[in-house]
Amino acid sequence: MKELLNKLKETSLSSVLKAESPEELENLRVKYLGKKGELTSILKQMGKLSDEDRRVIGQAANSIRASLEEAFESRKNQMYEKLLDLRLKLETTDVTVPGSKMRIGKKHPVSIIIDEVKDIFIGMGFTVADGPETELAKYNFDKLNHDENHPARDRQDTFYFSEDDNILLRTSTSPVQIRVMEMRSPPIRVISPGRVYRKDEVDATHSPMFHQIEGLVVDKGITMGDLKGTLNTLIERLYGSDAKTRFRPHHFPFTEPSCEIDVQCFECGGEGCRVCKNEGWIELLGAGMVHPYVLEGCGTDSRVYSGFAFGVGVERMAMRRFNIPDLRMLYENDMRFLDQF
Ligand code: DAH
Repeated sequence: MKELLNKLKETSLSSVLKAESPEELENLRVKYLGKKGELTSILKQMGKLSDEDRRVIGQAANSIRASLEEAFESRKNQMYEKLLDLRLKLETTDVTVPGSKMRIGKKHPVSIIIDEVKDIFIGMGFTVADGPETELAKYNFDKLNHDENHPARDRQDTFYFSEDDNILLRTSTSPVQIRVMEMRSPPIRVISPGRVYRKDEVDATHSPMFHQIEGLVVDKGITMGDLKGTLNTLIERLYGSDAKTRFRPHHFPFTEPSCEIDVQCFECGGEGCRVCKNEGWIELLGAGMVHPYVLEGCGTDSRVYSGFAFGVGVERMAMRRFNIPDLRMLYENDMRFLDQF
């Protein structure tokens, strides 16, 4: 039996040392040390031995088991280290190779203008309000004092969603005025930038979607003087302190009196040129004193409070500011164009 054990020791150890894979190693472990393994089956025959022999053989068997287990462990570690070496070799990174650059986005010119205008007004104590682009006709027209037959309501000009013409894409940011006045009581100082929609054919100066920034101030004793002072500040900050402005009478249903504000052409200084279409002036925004009907319709007492409002087109400002000749360039997302800002 001693001989059997010695032979087992020799063959098992040498096959463990030669094992090439973890699977092979596991098979050998079952073969020698498993429940039905060779060592176990030798030990099962120990019953026939004398006490003395059983002690000797038992010790020998235990020592074989211990050295086999050690051999399995060390072979396993060898395999693991070899694998690790291989992986390290395969996965080395050469940190001196120049990396591939990630392209970093830039602010769109429309966003640059919106952010600048926000900054200017926040500096004057305004907050920024938001309103839905899908609007109710009630807010887009009725409460802004457009009568039943106002041309702006025409299906030719407005994108309607419902048969009854109650739901539409807002045609200006002015409905935000109503939403703000219904929610807050004066004093109110807000601006509201956002997208607006009109059924216009696309050309160098028109797009069915564009951006406006609305402004609204309501308080006791607000006058046309506040309107002029505030908007002159805006224009000076945007176009420099020597920019000249002109206030022209106009008509909007929701303001009385209403005006349009022009800025003297920065290209020709008022002489007349291609940029200002020989006018010497460039139209910048619409404004006026909030109509008493509009104030009352939102539950504001027009004998106590007055206000002014304005609306300005963002694309138009961006085109002037950055000398962009065609509105469509703003929407083409051509990086060669956008990278310049
Ligand atoms: N909503 C006008 C438009 O889209 C712009 C405008 C004019 C807004 C006068 C105002 C305003 O708030 O007072 O053409």
